[in-house]
Amino acid sequence: MWQLLGRVSQRGAVQCMYHRAVRGAHHLTTPIFYVNAAPHLGHVYSALLADVQHRYSALCGLEAKLSTGTDEHGIKVQQAAAALGLDPSDFCNAVSQQFRTMFDTMAVSYTDFVRTTERRHARAVCHFWKELEEKGYIYKGVYEGWYCTSDEAFLSQDQTAENRDKEGNRIRVSAESGHQVHWMSEENYMFRLSQLRPKLLEWLSTEPIHPAPFLRIVRQWLEEELPDLSVSRQRNRVSWGIPVPSDSSHTIYVWLDALINYLTVAGYPDQNLAPWGPSTHLLGKDILRFHAIYWPAFLLAAGLPPPKKLLVHSHWTSNGVKMSKSLQNVVDPTECIRQYTRDGLRYFLLRHGSPERDCDFTHLTVRKLLNSELADALGGLLNRCTASTINPGQRWPYYQCRSVPTAAHDDLQRVLGSVQELPRLVEQYMTRFQPNKALEAIDGSVRTSNAFFQSQAPWKLFKGDEKDKAWGQSVLYITLESLRLYATLLQPAVPGLAKTILDRLGVPNVYRNLKGNYFFAATFGENCSFQGHPLGPECGLLYPRLEGDKE
Ligand code: MSP
Repeated sequence: MWQLLGRVSQRGAVQCMYHRAVRGAHHLTTPIFYVNAAPHLGHVYSALLADVQHRYSALCGLEAKLSTGTDEHGIKVQQAAAALGLDPSDFCNAVSQQFRTMFDTMAVSYTDFVRTTERRHARAVCHFWKELEEKGYIYKGVYEGWYCTSDEAFLSQDQTAENRDKEGNRIRVSAESGHQVHWMSEENYMFRLSQLRPKLLEWLSTEPIHPAPFLRIVRQWLEEELPDLSVSRQRNRVSWGIPVPSDSSHTIYVWLDALINYLTVAGYPDQNLAPWGPSTHLLGKDILRFHAIYWPAFLLAAGLPPPKKLLVHSHWTSNGVKMSKSLQNVVDPTECIRQYTRDGLRYFLLRHGSPERDCDFTHLTVRKLLNSELADALGGLLNRCTASTINPGQRWPYYQCRSVPTAAHDDLQRVLGSVQELPRLVEQYMTRFQPNKALEAIDGSVRTSNAFFQSQAPWKLFKGDEKDKAWGQSVLYITLESLRLYATLLQPAVPGLAKTILDRLGVPNVYRNLKGNYFFAATFGENCSFQGHPLGPECGLLYPRLEGDKE
């Protein structure tokens, strides 16, 4: 979308300048969340990955949108409400609000929150259904095969396996999720999925799925049988959903209904959808088939362009075991926020989680990581270079290029090399959907700055002669500039902590973006308006150390 044009100014100051390569707003989406259970850590992770991409786009000066919401129809919700003796709509209102509150608490910067029970969504779904019908992609037929109610998914024989239930009875389960499946034979509306294979293959050739292993999985799926898909359920069985427009004895299949939320948020059917609205869908690997086969097929059938990009992430396990409501091992995000703060939890999930492979959540790992990277490395750097003992005037010092001692050249080059490289590295990792690596790179640079500060020991230099003092001022300038760069780059991941640092450094709001922002200008002989500028007020510890970080 946006290209990093250059990272150094004519003389070398670290500069972040972006060039708009594509017209139109960048629109990201999260999956919409089932309301049959309260939000857990996995849901928060899905939303955070989208949030960090959204905030990063904004940091680069790119106009962007982010939509999220709740998926409220289908048999599971119908059953969950019935089990509590609640009207489904009251039940949905309550749980949908829990998700909204959780995302607000976690500072997910959504610009739209869609609910599939909204009128605007029902309009979009009905319009889309009629388009599919008019274009000849829907017919009435008998669906016969396996259906997994838990996953709301139709499965081929190959996608199922034999297992035993708690009483030892032989049952059939979904090979992927392990949930029980039932044989179903029902007259339904069918979608001509089989006809779309060539177009899907053409779409896949644009390599729209990241990380690459997930693209390979989808390619493999497309080599297998691609039967037509049942897209309705008889209303007497599934009543909580949108009726088929021309036949109220059928309810539209919950996944078709849910996927259309991405059109609803783009203003469908009213807005002109060329170019395509939502361009990047973020999703967990368990819902890849729905997004990488069904969704592009539906869009192509309706004459709309398929998604530009699917960003797929792996899962969190809890103490080595898959998190699931039935195993009662789901991690409660509210409890984590209480223990680690919002930004502590954001940092851990984004830094330790990897979209490419499953990750384990243990409280020990959280404490170790947050103590080492936020409390010690980042917090330590902030304290050291802003302390009134070292900077009694509480102002940005002046860099004095003539004062660099020969013995300090290597250390200086190391720290400048690291920070000069950093914005490009972060850009590269964010584009490749590797926020964990972007944060790792920032942490690496923070450590280089700490080592530089330690080896140059400005507190000793200030006790020396004029030359030493001048170099001490320069060391302080470089360290403050490093910190300003790190805090600027950390804003998408930990907006609160980054703000604390930028406030403490006295950085005005206009200098908090990447676009057109220069760093280390004075070290390259250029004017730097921060020199002589007052620091902000004292902020205390950035992130107090957590107890219990030992085995
Ligand atoms: N309602 C569907 C999505 C419809 S999108 C048109 C759904 N909802 S969900 O609530 O079950 O899952 C929402 C997201 O949470 C998915 O991306 C899923 O992968 C993610 N996670 C659920 N459990 C997870 C983990 N344990 N770890 C990481 N993310 C996981 O599917």
